[in-house]
Amino acid sequence: MDGNGRWAQKRSLPRLLGHREGYKTLRSVLLYASERGIRYLTVYAFSAENWRRPKDEVDGLMKLIERAARDELRVMHRNGVRVRVAGRMDELPSGLRQALEDGMATTAGNTGITFTLAINYGGRAEIVDAMKKIVGEGIPADQIDEETVAAHLYNPDHPEPDLMIRTAGEMRWSNFLLWQSAYSELYVTEKTWPEFDDKELDRAIEAFAGRTRKFGALA
Ligand code: FPP
Repeated sequence: MDGNGRWAQKRSLPRLLGHREGYKTLRSVLLYASERGIRYLTVYAFSAENWRRPKDEVDGLMKLIERAARDELRVMHRNGVRVRVAGRMDELPSGLRQALEDGMATTAGNTGITFTLAINYGGRAEIVDAMKKIVGEGIPADQIDEETVAAHLYNPDHPEPDLMIRTAGEMRWSNFLLWQSAYSELYVTEKTWPEFDDKELDRAIEAFAGRTRKFGALA
């Protein structure tokens, strides 16, 4: 969800207002994605590297996400959304962790869109954590294959993403879903995240529908 800061700076507003605007976008994109029949939506809300930002911004983001998780829970539950988290939850402030755990527990049985919040998430950290689990389970090296690694990621029941969208024109992947994105189709838009809307999601889906996926084979 890139470009919240730029959106705010362009309007001479504090960066946190950009994040607040990004939250509004997320709320409407989640609803629209669900209406369009998308089964899984994963958003990068806070990377393992984002702790390096100024304390005010980090604290503000943590509070915003905690409040959003609490405020939106009833609506998400009513809409059949299943909430999940990807990332090192034990390093999050306890209030936020509790809000996310409540969200996951309340919505665990829902059968609508699965909405996954990548928070304190890093793709490399996820692979490291998977390795630790594999070693901890005593699985011998000669029995480890790609399926073993995939089965020890944060959400092993999630399918690999068909489409990955990056906003604000960034042409890099910044440690997001490294393992899972091996064959994902990429869509980059110049729009900042607060400017992203239903039409832009339609455009991304349309672009995806026009791609030929080969998964390494011939078309
Ligand atoms: C990246 O833009 C965005 C973030 C680090 C935060 C994303 C968080 C939200 C959209 C808040 C709402 C989230 C939830 C789950 C309620 P940036 O700050 O890097 O923007 P810039 O690249 O323009 O500086």
